[in-house]
Amino acid sequence: MKVGFLQFNPTFGDRKKNCCTVRDLLMDVVADIVVIPELFNTGYAFLNKKELIDLAEPAGGETYEFVHRLAQEKSIALAYGYAESAGDSIYNSMSFVTPDGIVATYRKSHLFFEEKFLFTPGDTGFKTFEYAGIKLGMLICWDWIYPEAMRTLALRGAQIILHAANLVTPYCPDAMKTRAIENRVFVITADRTGDETRGDKKYHFIGKSQIVAPDGDILVRVEEEPCVKIVAIEPRLALDKKMNTHNDLFTDRRDELYSR
Ligand code: ACM
Repeated sequence: MKVGFLQFNPTFGDRKKNCCTVRDLLMDVVADIVVIPELFNTGYAFLNKKELIDLAEPAGGETYEFVHRLAQEKSIALAYGYAESAGDSIYNSMSFVTPDGIVATYRKSHLFFEEKFLFTPGDTGFKTFEYAGIKLGMLICWDWIYPEAMRTLALRGAQIILHAANLVTPYCPDAMKTRAIENRVFVITADRTGDETRGDKKYHFIGKSQIVAPDGDILVRVEEEPCVKIVAIEPRLALDKKMNTHNDLFTDRRDELYSR
């Protein structure tokens, strides 16, 4: 299976331009699954709730229509982050879209910093879903710092974790090696790059998108360039939780010892 990430520097508030950039970057790409960053269409540094409301869309909105068309044209599955309006709430969300339409939507569980003043905490939990015979799970950026999040997806059978990010701290790329090793899963992180300075808000996004294998091997990691990287992986490797003949990471767990 060919999987990958797309990394770029979105322009705040210009959904059309950001969608066009994604289309251009995917032009010659051949792959099964590509992950696109968190809030790829809107940018990140919302000054207030009104800006967020104006840029948010329902899960089946214009950005979905664009991504779905692209998935059909390229026979590809795309996982992408966006601001999702649903009733009175706005979630920091991620959808997995195939040529047949939306397969799953995940709403960010762990909001970072001032996201807490803008978004509603996600209510979807950590569900897995199937595509092309492979079990997948999604996480969004700051979810990485809670080992429970990826552990839950892995215990539910996820072989590949699709992680859409807007990373502003330096820790995630190296931490994801551990997350991959402790769960024996593939992890694809699609991060954004660039700076956003709006009002008194100033963010630098670190890039460093990467794909990590279940043994912690970093199959590809980039710096801050706009790019798409694709690697061929064997998702069945993530079904084997054995570290050696005597240690299976999942059956060795002592669930009865872990409650507070
Ligand atoms: C983040 O969760 N976007 C840092």
